Amino acid sequence: METRASMGRLFNPRGVAVVGASANPGKIGYRVVENMVKAGFTGEIYPINPKGGEILGRKVYAKLADVEGAVDVAVLAVPAEHVLGAVGDCAAKDVGHLVVVTSGFSEIGNIALEKELVALAKKHGMRVLGPNIFGIYSATSRLDATFGPGGILPGHVAIVTQSGALGIAMIGKTAAESLGLSALISVGNKSDIDEADLLEYLADDPETRVVLLYVEGVKNGERLVKTLREVTQRKHVVVIKSGRSARGAMAAASHTGSLAGADDVFDDIMRQCGVLRAESVQEAFNWVRFLSTAPLPSGEDAVIVTNGGGIGVLATDACEKYGVRLYDNQPVLATAFADVMPEFGSSKNPVDLTGQATGDDYARSLDAVLARSDMHAAIALYCETALFDTTQFADLLRSVYRRYAEVKPIVFALFGGERIETMIRELRSEGVPVFGDVYEAISVLGSLYRSWRRLTEGNEEAETPPEMDIASIRQVLARAGAQGRKFLLAHEAAEVAAALGLRMPRSILARDLDAAIRAAETIGYPVVMKVVSKDIVHKSDAGGVALDLEDRDEVVDAYQAILRSCLRYKPDAVIEGVEVVEMVRAGVETIVGARQDPSFGPVAMFGLGGIYVEVMKDVSFRAAPVTGRVAREMIGSIRAYPLLLGVRGESRKDIGAAADVVMRLGRLIAECREITDIEVNPLVVYDYGEGVKAVDVRILFRGTQGGDAA
Ligand code: ACO
Repeated sequence: METRASMGRLFNPRGVAVVGASANPGKIGYRVVENMVKAGFTGEIYPINPKGGEILGRKVYAKLADVEGAVDVAVLAVPAEHVLGAVGDCAAKDVGHLVVVTSGFSEIGNIALEKELVALAKKHGMRVLGPNIFGIYSATSRLDATFGPGGILPGHVAIVTQSGALGIAMIGKTAAESLGLSALISVGNKSDIDEADLLEYLADDPETRVVLLYVEGVKNGERLVKTLREVTQRKHVVVIKSGRSARGAMAAASHTGSLAGADDVFDDIMRQCGVLRAESVQEAFNWVRFLSTAPLPSGEDAVIVTNGGGIGVLATDACEKYGVRLYDNQPVLATAFADVMPEFGSSKNPVDLTGQATGDDYARSLDAVLARSDMHAAIALYCETALFDTTQFADLLRSVYRRYAEVKPIVFALFGGERIETMIRELRSEGVPVFGDVYEAISVLGSLYRSWRRLTEGNEEAETPPEMDIASIRQVLARAGAQGRKFLLAHEAAEVAAALGLRMPRSILARDLDAAIRAAETIGYPVVMKVVSKDIVHKSDAGGVALDLEDRDEVVDAYQAILRSCLRYKPDAVIEGVEVVEMVRAGVETIVGARQDPSFGPVAMFGLGGIYVEVMKDVSFRAAPVTGRVAREMIGSIRAYPLLLGVRGESRKDIGAAADVVMRLGRLIAECREITDIEVNPLVVYDYGEGVKAVDVRILFRGTQGGDAA
């Protein structure tokens, strides 16, 4: 049953009160009433102002309690100091949703007032949109409860925006571009209602085909990820996020942390969720407009029809960039375009009709694409020539577009002088997807393809998570925590690695020379030897490490040399012995990490490891836990992936084993929230079938008794 605070009521309220309605046209409280009246809201409008009287012919109520009808939504447009009082009045009137336009809350540091507002609203079963917003528009009830410029066209795009100023500017832009909206919601400080709440509603809203999110910062990212993953299986979702530039690394206690620039994590997680991220507002507008009208393709293969070879090549490049596949069955292309192809044209894709093609040739070629079920989309390119009459040409494009509109996606890119520019403006205002640039046109088609793949890929198959002994891991953490530490020592990290099911190099602690020789012989040469002493932190600096020991004699020499130089380095050091470790064979060095991200919660990372990790920043992130498919996708998305596939005659590496480690770390970070960072660096990946080796494992966790992170 619909409660008074259900989202449906926010978008289709029976009555809306405007608290702070004013007869003064210069005030926000006037503009909201004016927009509501002008937009033809289907419910009742109740302006509230102690002075009473009338605004735009509507009776003004001195107080909310005087209203007799139901008030599902109250827009609060009174100064911050009056907001709590108004919330009290709304509670007494059983209001469902508060749309708090007022500024002066957490955005200026007034966090306490915002908390009080939300707590009071919650106590009385009300939800809060805002504060610090410009309002809400909903096409189904013709509700324009904003103080924007008005004149919003109804349509199929829902915009959810965190930026008020940009949101208001978008209203003007949507009108200028004849882009129809199903909803427009300003979320401002997101004190209660956030993107996830709104997406859940919009996913079921029959009017909404595309959701455009403008995000500045993510709160409660874990819920957002979950919601987005569901919604993108039903609707197109586009996001614009400000703050692409590099942010100072968060506590750089680990590579995973320092590599996790907020924007890179956002970018990767949006891709994981099937959300299309636009670079600019213009790109986002181009996409949402097309996505809201274009039919879904029935396959991947697009055909370019052009009257110029050069732009055909440009378009081919753009198709590669935006992931649009080109139809390439040559014999079929030759037959399909035989009738329209001049002798010196080319029926390869791009289909080049040459500069002497007539409008009729152009239309017939596009009809040929339309007629074939194995050609799934058309890209029509046109360079202005003396042979074309532009007036007739505009009509021709209109009719081609009409034939395609419900059947197949088509985009047009036209180049030429003033006449062409005018034609583009005209056709665009009618909703024809025409662009003055080939990259813009193909970026739009690419957005449809990406979203379509997501819509059709279905749910990820449930997988049995990798087995690991989480209880033992928690015991190790508890022991270290009891010592006031927030990091694990090497041998504790090795215990965790074993419980996780990771393969580490074999290692034996030897307390004297004989034991060291026995250990080396048990492990097998070559071995590495490292000093074990609580008093020596930087082992290499102290001369406490010897690599690549090939035989017994080398072990004897190294043992004595290590002891000598460590005691010279720190004469009072208590040396417990040496650790004899298997010398790890060379392979491809990668890094696998997982951490609690401040915005998104548990995330997993995979990247190219080794000494250049910080320079190359060749890493990918996903919200954790991750399935095997997602783990392999992460691995496949780094630039150095060819190294794992095997270059220059090298054999393919064991990608499956690396993916398994990513899954294990992802599951651990999602289940053990007390672990803040875990990192395997390097994870050496061997040839296919030979597995991986975790050379070093570091773990940071939320300690129980203070202490500092390493
Ligand atoms: N109930 C009903 N009416 C009341 C009450 C009350 N409890 N208290 C005051 N009023 C009346 C006032 O008398 C006034 O009416 P009047 O014009 O007849 O005198 C009206 O409500 C408005 O009150 P004012 O004190 O005149 O406040 P004003 O309109 O100047 O400002 C506002 C109120 C707009 C909410 C302001 O405090 C504010 O927060 N402005 C910023 C809004 C904003 O930018 N939001 C973010 C949008 S996004 C972006 O960045 C663009």
